[in-house]
Amino acid sequence: MTGDHAATAVFAPSDDIVDHAKIDSAKYEEMYKASIDDPEAFWGEQGKRLDWIKPYSKVKNTSFAPGNVDIKWFEDGTLNVSANCIDRHLKDRGNQTAIIFEPDDPNEPAKYITYSQLHVAVCRMANVLESMGVRKGDRVVIYLPMIPEAAYAMLACARIGAIHSIVFAGFSPDALSARINGCDAKVIITADTAPRGGRKTALKSNADAALLHCKDSVKCLVVKRTGDQTTWIDGRDYDYNEMALEADDYARPAEMNAEDPLFILYTSGSTGQPKGVVHTTGGYLLYAAMTHEYVFDYHDGDVFWCTADVGWVTGHSYIVYGPLANGAITLMFEGVPTWPDASRFWEVCEKHKVNQFYTAPTALRALMGQGNAPVEKCDLSSLRILGTVGEPINPEAWNWYYNVIGQGRCPIVDTWWQTETGGHMMTPLPGAHALKPGSAMKPFFGVKPVVLDPQTGEEIHSYPTEGVLCIADSWPSQMRTVWGDHERFEKTYFSDYKGYYFAGDGCKRDEDGDFWITGRVDDVINVSGHRMGTAEVESALVAHAKVAEAAVVGYPHEIKGQGIYCYVTLMNDAEPSEELRKELRQWVRTEIGPIASPDVIQWAPGLPKTRSGKIMRRILRKIAENDFDSLGDTSTLADPSVVDDLIENRAK
Ligand code: WT7
Repeated sequence: MTGDHAATAVFAPSDDIVDHAKIDSAKYEEMYKASIDDPEAFWGEQGKRLDWIKPYSKVKNTSFAPGNVDIKWFEDGTLNVSANCIDRHLKDRGNQTAIIFEPDDPNEPAKYITYSQLHVAVCRMANVLESMGVRKGDRVVIYLPMIPEAAYAMLACARIGAIHSIVFAGFSPDALSARINGCDAKVIITADTAPRGGRKTALKSNADAALLHCKDSVKCLVVKRTGDQTTWIDGRDYDYNEMALEADDYARPAEMNAEDPLFILYTSGSTGQPKGVVHTTGGYLLYAAMTHEYVFDYHDGDVFWCTADVGWVTGHSYIVYGPLANGAITLMFEGVPTWPDASRFWEVCEKHKVNQFYTAPTALRALMGQGNAPVEKCDLSSLRILGTVGEPINPEAWNWYYNVIGQGRCPIVDTWWQTETGGHMMTPLPGAHALKPGSAMKPFFGVKPVVLDPQTGEEIHSYPTEGVLCIADSWPSQMRTVWGDHERFEKTYFSDYKGYYFAGDGCKRDEDGDFWITGRVDDVINVSGHRMGTAEVESALVAHAKVAEAAVVGYPHEIKGQGIYCYVTLMNDAEPSEELRKELRQWVRTEIGPIASPDVIQWAPGLPKTRSGKIMRRILRKIAENDFDSLGDTSTLADPSVVDDLIENRAK
């Protein structure tokens, strides 16, 4: 790998960017060194960014030791997240906009919610939840579109100490009920219907279907978004808009320990069903706020836009918690990049004079395909910093983003992180680093990335190198456990490479010590920036009566990054047909959600298995990639001839 990156063009920030930046390269070096040399002192000082009810006396108490993984930050401090995101800003910026809401339909007016208005809305929602019996430590599932009420709901939970678990509104009723039951939620918050891209999703009716598989005691709080009619079950369903009118406009923020859970967010792994990632109060908020400020070089008054959905961790940390903790102006967009047309993102940037714009490579690739005209008709001069997240960005998309969107003026921060990490782990800082397209560059403060040899598990100290990416020590926003299953937490992240947090990604480290993420080394795939376990899609497929066996792999997809390639073995009495293919595709959409829709289904009379019955995914990946020359040794297969059949009938 030495040669390829050495030749890469490097983009140094302009003097304008450096002069404006809060962190230049000298400051980065100094702060990074301090954060590694003495984490206690560094984070003890940074902790002052937050308002504490009872200040902490201990900073870091963490162990990655096998069998005893235990992570605590600021463990004797108490605080409230909603007070930090709202109340403490009221004195100086009560009348400043906190949230700009841009609706799906460009003809519908935008909403500007000030910090004072946010305070009232969140207090009311907190009181509504309390009146429904929600108490400190109870779980509340949020299944809402990208509307301000989603932020109110998150902050209202935080205010009373309830733990929220957001389920992306694109998930099916089955996925929703699994999550409600998984965390034993008392209440689910949803909306009537959700407009998106000119169409509507029937959220309440999805919730109705999900609740058929949940305890009778689960209550449903319904937000009015469109006013569309929904079925109503008295005693179970509660009308948010009516109740909020009656509710008191003040709710006292609960005193929470720094290590009390703030939220659970389900995410896919390489095995089994999604796991509930648990984030806690103090460390998470501090790290989200600090990364938001430094990585995007956020200054007071800037308009910050993260295009993610609040259903993903990116939305948690960089639409809601990070920006609001900083008293920022954060934009929430209900729609999609390509509706009514491919100008929409850029029109919103122009309309609201966005300064920092943060999106996913998959969206950029889709928009790049529409040419430059939709961009060029918009005034993008307000943009200062661009960001990407979710998957490696290919050079074409990077160059287009840099030259066409940023007009060669705006640094791109390529932020590598995960649901589990709570906030950015590796990224360039705009005023500190010369960019290399496709590189996540350097660790953020306090982050100790190491490259391990996948076979020996030994740290590789030389440069350049390649291996598995691990983190050697804890950082404040690290996930603390898997909800209800600490053993799974230890097994998933701390058992393959003892003493390290194993991220699941591979990486290269070049001659300058800059990091390049090469993608997952496990059975997790990344489809349009959505993370998915191949095992989940497989178990959805085999749940169909006509499917005997299924193996799912990712393959390169021009727009989505990775597509979903399914090898399906049918039951003896089932006939392959185009209809059945459609039926299976629909089946998976219903079982999981539209984001898991198979791109390719290939009928497989047999799957390549070892003599002990293990499916050789390596071979299936190669076939899906159309790479038949490097299948490796197939002689250990129980029946090598199945490979020939799969190659011969590879789906076109
Ligand atoms: C996986 C985590 C938290 C961000 C949203 C996705 C991949 C994420 C990058 C990047 C290359 C990236 C990794 C990671 N990933 N950002 N900048 N460059 N790959 O969160 O759903 O938890 O997925 O997304 O493979 O492990 P997630």
